Amino acid sequence: MTVSRVPRSRRFLVCDPRHFAVQYAINPWMHPDTPVDVDLARDQWQALIRAYRAHGHTVDTVEPVPGLPDMVFAANSAVVVDGRVFGSLFHAPQRRPESVHYDTWFKAAGYDVHRPESVCEGEGDLVWTGRYLLAGTGFRTTREAHREAQEFFGHPVIGLTLVDPHFYHLDTALFVLDGGPAEGVADIANIAYYPEAFSPGSREVLARLYPDAVLATREDALAFGLNSVSDGRHVFIAPRAEALAARLADRGYVPVPVDLSEFQKAGGGIKCCTQEIRS
Ligand code: ARG
Repeated sequence: MTVSRVPRSRRFLVCDPRHFAVQYAINPWMHPDTPVDVDLARDQWQALIRAYRAHGHTVDTVEPVPGLPDMVFAANSAVVVDGRVFGSLFHAPQRRPESVHYDTWFKAAGYDVHRPESVCEGEGDLVWTGRYLLAGTGFRTTREAHREAQEFFGHPVIGLTLVDPHFYHLDTALFVLDGGPAEGVADIANIAYYPEAFSPGSREVLARLYPDAVLATREDALAFGLNSVSDGRHVFIAPRAEALAARLADRGYVPVPVDLSEFQKAGGGIKCCTQEIRS
């Protein structure tokens, strides 16, 4: 029997890719010699925004800044839970100036922003499940930042170690499908993930917490299929992650394919371009 999944409308923060480029290499996907088609990138990005709006989601935008080519990856700039904004401190010096522009947006929108003392790349590594935060480390966000986030939010933070440089942020290897009881799902929240992106111990933790998770193949993960956004029913997902989309459909989710191939040249996808504001 297929379950009927219930969507919940979200509020997203995004940043137009008009200054998007690959000018430096801070992950294995980035090759500054490969040209980026900015017009194509903008078309793809606009299709994502249209898809969000067509499914009832609210989208706010931060003004992009020239010289900050990765600013389009809004997920990295903060994590917002219960209306509390935990800002960012980027690992790469090239990205550090992005934080202040997002902080300015949040302040203008009436939020206080906590600036982390240790490297923390927002929702790239801190993933809210509806009950606690799953927190990636290994490449970017530090253990110290996990502790700081737990202290700040007062929600449990569960550290997970990433081991494959292709999946350098937690949101390239795992995403939340639904928010569990808060979203009318009988059981705990559920997730999809690629086990081999994690250390053996972290894999065991995920298997214990999510015995019913949707597991992805390496092909799905390399196609950025885990860099997806779910509203509890619709899953905005890279079209090349076909096996994963089929598994999700079997579980009653509705895949909504959105192609952000141009952003893969920077190591990014749908979720990277999307920050959720949970007020
Ligand atoms: N070029 C960016 C970086 O390496 C891509 C960030 C992708 N964002 C994400 N949430 N995974 O930092």
